[in-house]
Amino acid sequence: MKTEVGLTAITIYLKDYQAPHYALEHTDLHVELLSDCAEVSATLRFKRAASAPKDAALTLLGADLELLSVAWNDQPLSADDWQWQGETWQFNGAGEGGVLSTKVRIYPDKNLALEGLYRSHGLYCTQCEAEGFRKITLFPDRPDVLSTFRTTIVADQASCPVLLSNGNCVASGKAENGRHFATWEDPHPKPSYLFALVAGDLAVLRDSFTTASGREVALEIYTAEVDQDKCDHAMRSLQTAMRWDEQRYGCEYDLDRYMIVAVSHFNMGAMENKGLNVFNTSCVLAHPATTTDAGFQRVEAVVAHEYFHNWSGNRVTCRDWFQLCLKEGFTVFRDQQFSAEQLSPVVQRLEDVAFLQTHQFAEDAGPLAHAVRPESFVEINNFYTLTIYEKGAEIARMLHTFLGAEGFRRGSDHYFKTYDGQAAIVEDFLSSMAIANGLAVDTFVCQWLRWYRQPGTPVVRVTSAWHADSKTLSLTLTQSQTSHAGVTPEPLPIPVRLGFIGETGELTTTLASVSASSHQLLLEKAEQTWHFSQVEQAPVLSLFRDFSAPVRVQAALSDEDLARLIRLDSNSFNRWSATYTLATREILALAEQYRRGDVRARQPQDSALAGALAAMWPALATSDPALASKLLQLPNLAYLSDQVSCYDPAALQRAREALLLQVLTPLEGSLQSILANEHMLTPYVYSAAAMAARSLEAVALDALARLQPEAAATMAQRWLSVAPHMSAEQAALTTLVHQQLPGADAAVQAFYARWQHEPLVLDQWFATQASAPHASARNTVEALLQHDDFDAAVPNRVRAVVGQFASNNPVAFHDMAGKGYDLLAQQLLLIDARNPQLASRLAGALGIWPKLDPARQACVLKTLDALLNESLSSDTRETLTRIRAAHD
Ligand code: ARG
Ligand code: ZN
Repeated sequence: MKTEVGLTAITIYLKDYQAPHYALEHTDLHVELLSDCAEVSATLRFKRAASAPKDAALTLLGADLELLSVAWNDQPLSADDWQWQGETWQFNGAGEGGVLSTKVRIYPDKNLALEGLYRSHGLYCTQCEAEGFRKITLFPDRPDVLSTFRTTIVADQASCPVLLSNGNCVASGKAENGRHFATWEDPHPKPSYLFALVAGDLAVLRDSFTTASGREVALEIYTAEVDQDKCDHAMRSLQTAMRWDEQRYGCEYDLDRYMIVAVSHFNMGAMENKGLNVFNTSCVLAHPATTTDAGFQRVEAVVAHEYFHNWSGNRVTCRDWFQLCLKEGFTVFRDQQFSAEQLSPVVQRLEDVAFLQTHQFAEDAGPLAHAVRPESFVEINNFYTLTIYEKGAEIARMLHTFLGAEGFRRGSDHYFKTYDGQAAIVEDFLSSMAIANGLAVDTFVCQWLRWYRQPGTPVVRVTSAWHADSKTLSLTLTQSQTSHAGVTPEPLPIPVRLGFIGETGELTTTLASVSASSHQLLLEKAEQTWHFSQVEQAPVLSLFRDFSAPVRVQAALSDEDLARLIRLDSNSFNRWSATYTLATREILALAEQYRRGDVRARQPQDSALAGALAAMWPALATSDPALASKLLQLPNLAYLSDQVSCYDPAALQRAREALLLQVLTPLEGSLQSILANEHMLTPYVYSAAAMAARSLEAVALDALARLQPEAAATMAQRWLSVAPHMSAEQAALTTLVHQQLPGADAAVQAFYARWQHEPLVLDQWFATQASAPHASARNTVEALLQHDDFDAAVPNRVRAVVGQFASNNPVAFHDMAGKGYDLLAQQLLLIDARNPQLASRLAGALGIWPKLDPARQACVLKTLDALLNESLSSDTRETLTRIRAAHD
């Protein structure tokens, strides 16, 4: 939050970037943690950059600091010697360079924004990315200023026995009055956003890792004592990730220690501070009794993600925050690759794609759309988005697809070697890929940079013609993009992987004298045509296999064509994708009939999807249970909302349920026999096979709830009473509550009684109720907000209630009279006053408004205007202003 003197929001532009005038050679910090405040002394050694003018000012940044003293080369300075405006502090007498010493006082206990140095359940911790370090001390707080750090922490020994910072511990010992100290040295130059400090009473799980070159690294996971039994999975994930990065990317760890600290009050998932990661408890703790399969997977992915940042982010960092995707997009791609190799590659890919299509496509189509590398921002915290992370990862993936695994590795090797220890830009990443693969650099960079510069999801239109006499097929692909202010779209390089499906299976066809069952093209012009030969029969095209590019595809596939893909495509991803397309088509048609009051809507329909699944699903459930369970999870309302021009949640919900019933009815026997297996009730094993079996049974239970509610209720109760792990308990609770089965209320009470001492389980308990897809959930949410265990200071709890309601419960949130929007607005004001980042993120839910009907639109606009009249943080104001400015 920019709190200074009520300045109006300042927009920062990429085009205004200027290199820093002074380099920082070394940072020495001394942090005294006192009973009601902290005093931070900083000694900073500066040197004027060769390129800087002789009279250049030394510019530092500071926010919410009480300045106690400033000296330049040991001479005290007074307020006349510097200018301080907003967050910017300037000193004109720095000359060639010298040493600046400052001392400031800050208040970690009062820091509710959870940015900078704050306290979480008695534990001191920091969050500096993106611009939190300036709330700890006066500093050149920008990612292109890198220095070595030496940090001394002094605190009360009894309440803070553990004192941690980045790097290696070089000294520790007793201080006066029951206090003690520790000094840490980080030899790797780093920007301030990677600084971390932790102090408190923590227990530790220790293990080790031997790097490829034989160095021994101590691994430590710090948590509250009670959570030590939940660290094994994170430790194993860390070791696996360290080995993986050596083998796949040639990246080895570079310090003697790697520490992870679990913190219960945290605005995001986790943070990659050098050698000292800070994690939301939800992303590090895992135990079969308290954590679901999804939770285990998330821990593994996030531990890997933060570890991978050690190279993609820390050794090679970002020049400025416009380049955020350089570290985030690339690192998400790396963690997706890693996760795919741990469990099931297909399930991983289709989950990642469903997530992108559901949430990032909507972001890109709505008022908060922005480029993967934006040209401007007001509050950088608002740009930790799905577009930067997920679309950014898809761009890295397309480069991987286009260059091949080996070509991509040559490029990443070149990138890590060339830019090690530096702050890079997106162009450096792209040029590395080109140079290492002998491609023309300028052309390559210019072409691929378009993906980073042009917001919006491209559309690819497909037309094809098969010629029976010549057995040839011509394929024409046309790409288009909507233009956004300031950028004229130019054609993108779009990798297209495709195959041809005949009546009984995949065909081998020939393109440019290469015969294969799968081909790869690069669409790089507005329109291009390819000619395939030896196409023996009229095929159905299996396009964009494994989602080879993040585009919307418009292809004239009939229901029968899609059904053929569902049955016969060798690409499992595309089988799933065909069910999604067909389900979407049928749900939208049904909803449209409801809207028009069409009588046919009340009669049994023929569903091509139901027919296709009835024919193949029972066998698939045995041969590939993971894919089978995914095929029954029809697109949710969030996904569907992106597919329509006018979004009516209640109508879509009704249509979706109707289709689901048609799909499930013929499968009842099969579902019953799946449930009879009771894999769910066997002890927990973390493996792809065990998770697939559990996921299939969870889907079957949810299905049974629609066909035989009494039987499903009995089974859910049984799972709850004998469940050997949380995956079974959570599946049973969700089905009972979301399907409103008999005994749901009692189950909710019993679950609470059993788990009220476990915060992360309680978060799930809150979330399950807040996301129950019924209009009545709004009242439930009102009650949950009054619950003794609701704590507005804990972001996880707020997200479990308010976030789930606003973003994962469309039926209740989009109340016709606008009561859902009112509820969100009230909460936003309360939350924004203490935690702007959290409020701003929750406010994003209102970005859906241009899709709504006129009555609901009017309600949202009223809510937006009322909120914008209040005093708000710059974070939340920027988000609401951008949402308000949308026009259809
Ligand atoms: N860099 C962190 C990651 O691993 C996330 C930091 C988010 N920071 C923020 N201000 N929202 O993705
Ligand atoms: Zn990251």
